[in-house]
Amino acid sequence: MSKKIRVGMVGYKFMGKAHSNAWRQVPVFFDSPLVPELKAICGRDEEGVKAAAEKYGWESYETSWKKLVERDDIDIVDINTPNSSHAEIAIAAAEHGKHVFIEKPLAMNIEEAKRIADAVRKAGVKHMVSFNYRRFPALTFAKQIMNEGRLGKIFHFRALYLQDWIVDPDFPLVWRLDKKTAGSGALGDLCAHIVDMALWLVGDIKSVSATAETFIKKRKLPSQEGGLSAKAGEKTGEVTVDDAVISLARFENGALGTFEVTRFAIGHKNGGAFEINGSKGSLRFNLERMNELELLSAEDGDEQGFKTILVTESTHPFMAAWWPPGHMIGWEHSQINQVYHLLESIAADRMPEPSIYDGLKNQAVLEAMGRSMEDGRWHEVEKMDG
Ligand SMILES: NC(=O)c1ccc[n+]([C@@H]2O[C@H](COP(=O)([O-])OP(=O)(O)OC[C@H]3O[C@@H](n4cnc5c(N)ncnc54)[C@H](O)[C@@H]3O)[C@@H](O)[C@H]2O)c1
Repeated sequence: MSKKIRVGMVGYKFMGKAHSNAWRQVPVFFDSPLVPELKAICGRDEEGVKAAAEKYGWESYETSWKKLVERDDIDIVDINTPNSSHAEIAIAAAEHGKHVFIEKPLAMNIEEAKRIADAVRKAGVKHMVSFNYRRFPALTFAKQIMNEGRLGKIFHFRALYLQDWIVDPDFPLVWRLDKKTAGSGALGDLCAHIVDMALWLVGDIKSVSATAETFIKKRKLPSQEGGLSAKAGEKTGEVTVDDAVISLARFENGALGTFEVTRFAIGHKNGGAFEINGSKGSLRFNLERMNELELLSAEDGDEQGFKTILVTESTHPFMAAWWPPGHMIGWEHSQINQVYHLLESIAADRMPEPSIYDGLKNQAVLEAMGRSMEDGRWHEVEKMDG
């Protein structure tokens, strides 16, 4: 019989809903060695969190995360709050001996990220950052192809993450547009994802340069917000984060990288895409066609061309748990797959991936990009062990 693991979750809107769904669905689809018990959900507004607990199936609720992390009946704390509260919740959870599962970006800045990494190391708990895109079957399959060396020596990693949800100047100044709560704009929100893909698939980044712009500098303050939707109020405030960033990178293995992220690419809703070019082939992926991976092999002689692999066979990563080949899966399945990976790792006494140490490496890249956005120079990426 599977053992239980007791989950406490902070934040109940966009990611809180996605993670609640993942915790509930994982034992339905996977033979998980640990079965989650949805013990308690936390939010500051009692009416809102009570309604969320009932709707998402949590046994109880708290209105203070401090109370949640102190509870003896919780083994793992899942953090889905805006970035400014990640560090204090994660550190307190680790100090109370809880495993930590935390949304990206790990922290507001490198100092906070180091403090989180120190706390989990000292506590000896397991930890994972929610770079859930790794757990699209197509991307885990891409990682297998990279590990097999099938692309040869890597020359280029070229990535975009394009959205358009704030093109409208009447869209209000939500927490994601406020440096005090978000730390940065498209950089920490979108670039963090493609930097994670780069570090995972290609390797460590040595140095970066970057430039950024805030296209709309003042907006109405919100009267109501959650996730990527909001209503504008009366007062106006200043946008204190980047709307778009373009960055160049040099990898330790000699490859060159380009990263472009924006919330102003009209027509692109969640357009995350990358291409990797090596001496023996190329790979490309597009988040809006997430069941597919495109592969080109230089060994195909006079039949050169990208082939589109439909990554839905039961032999593909995670797909044996889902539907028959060709029956597509969606964005929320990456959340369920990553929760399965987390549970399987804890049960096997193995550190899940990406761990908070991987999140720290990611933060070091974002930090160097941020410095370059300010002074226009190239910056070395601080080396992190872990
Ligand atoms: N992995 C992904 O693809 C992905 C996508 C979106 C957001 N995120 C990350 O998830 C995190 C949350 O983003 P979101 O879109 O869910 O935000 P959201 O605004 O939809 O929800 C934030 C939640 O946190 C709660 N909250 C805020 N401060 C709190 C506090 N001090 N104590 C308790 N609850 C508090 C809010 O009440 C709300 O329930 C962010 O770090 C974001 O970067 C990740």
